[in-house]
Amino acid sequence: MERLRISKVLETAPSSNKITVCGWVRTYRNDRFLAVNDGSTIHNIQLVVQREDFDESLLKQLNAGAAIRALGVLVESQGGGQSVEIQVEELEILGGADPDEFPIQMKKHSLEFLREKAHLRFRTNTFSAVFRIRHLLQFAVHKFFHDQGFYQLHTPIITGSDAEGAGEMFKVTTLDLENLPKLEDGSTDFSQDFFGKPSNLTVSGQLEAELAAMALGQVYTFGPTFRAENSNTSRHLAEFWMIEPEIAFADLKDDMKLAEDCLKSVLGYVLEHGKDDLNFLENREVQSEKQLPQKDRHEHPLTDRLQNVVESEFAHMTYTEVINALRDSKPFKKKKFKYPCEWGDDLHSEHERWLVEKHIGGPVIVTDYPAEIKAFYMRQNDDGKTVAAMDVLVPGIGEIIGGSQREERLDILKKKCADFNIPEDHVWWYLETRKFGSAEHCGFGMGFERLVMFATGMSNIRDVIPFPRTPLSAEF
Ligand code: 4AD
Ligand code: MG
Repeated sequence: MERLRISKVLETAPSSNKITVCGWVRTYRNDRFLAVNDGSTIHNIQLVVQREDFDESLLKQLNAGAAIRALGVLVESQGGGQSVEIQVEELEILGGADPDEFPIQMKKHSLEFLREKAHLRFRTNTFSAVFRIRHLLQFAVHKFFHDQGFYQLHTPIITGSDAEGAGEMFKVTTLDLENLPKLEDGSTDFSQDFFGKPSNLTVSGQLEAELAAMALGQVYTFGPTFRAENSNTSRHLAEFWMIEPEIAFADLKDDMKLAEDCLKSVLGYVLEHGKDDLNFLENREVQSEKQLPQKDRHEHPLTDRLQNVVESEFAHMTYTEVINALRDSKPFKKKKFKYPCEWGDDLHSEHERWLVEKHIGGPVIVTDYPAEIKAFYMRQNDDGKTVAAMDVLVPGIGEIIGGSQREERLDILKKKCADFNIPEDHVWWYLETRKFGSAEHCGFGMGFERLVMFATGMSNIRDVIPFPRTPLSAEF
């Protein structure tokens, strides 16, 4: 008999028809009530098992984690907590789970413990909710861009260029590391490598997306990116997913509007389609914050925070205004910031979070950063000191989006390459788009895991990607 997914069963009216469900046992109470989940919803279906109808040896295997198939009749539930339940007539254990060994028991496990069991943590309510929301978000991203007339572009994962110029790349090679071919000057002879030159995993699909935008008008990438930055923080991964739209005939204002519209649209989508999981995650957060002092708890519940972003108008500040506000702030005057904030310094997470959480109390778009702390491709402003950059900062996360208007003037771009020590023959193809039919254009990168963090309220980025890659950790 065809199985019904539990999400469907829970929407079905009781009748004398027999139905089949499959799933994993969450609990088995009072020798009678089985709570079973199949991943289609945060809710379990209750199966009612009459002991006398089944073999003792079968009942013994109804442990948390076991996979089962059950056939029975859907009836109105006698107990509270659920509207329907299944009176089981046939029961099959598909795969048992030894209770002495299965690590995911009903008790509350710490997120740190579950990270070590990432292969099984999908079986918990928290992680199944997170990964369903993650799915909804990626779908909402594609829907948003498709509806706006964008084309998705698959940009290369192996590349020779370092778009961000931060030198944080993983090398890709087939050379024998124990026996590297050398040139006369002692350096490695990459002409013998697979691609005949040094190559690496991409840190961004932007440069290639720009090439396509200069013909297709508006494109976006949604792919994995890799950064060997040795920062073991709760917001950095060595492998993460990024969404990078690129639009032609558009300036920084258009870029900011696209970013704001995109964020609001995808959060609005999960608010509408992910209610059950969001409610679960909201309660989870409230419960887990009970032990914390009031000042460390979220001021507003998760869904309110998302709703606020959807309804708010994002504040705009220039980098220079931000530096002035920071230097005027209480934590600065009390020397509470770890990092300095002189004009020219990069903004750190502590600065970004003070700005969005204390100073503005909502999303902020910061523009016009000093040229030195941003990438070579950003458009130079008339002041000669700053570039047309924009970062979108949100409460609890800080930077979620980084973007800019691109330098479309060939002479200035060539000068920037020289300033950033980028040999022109490495980016000749990029420069050629400025030689032939150049036009103003812009784009941004949205960190997908940061978006999932924001939407789920999870506070560590390792808990919103199935198998996190971080320094010294690439298990699974
Ligand atoms: O600000 P970033 O470095 O910008 C770029 O890569 C540009 N090429 C984007 C563009 O204009 N097309 O990165 C963009 C976003 C950040 O705002 C952040 O959300 C996320 O990517 N991000 C990371 N997420 C997780 N782990 C990391 N190590 C990240 N580094 C950046
Ligand atoms: Mg950035």
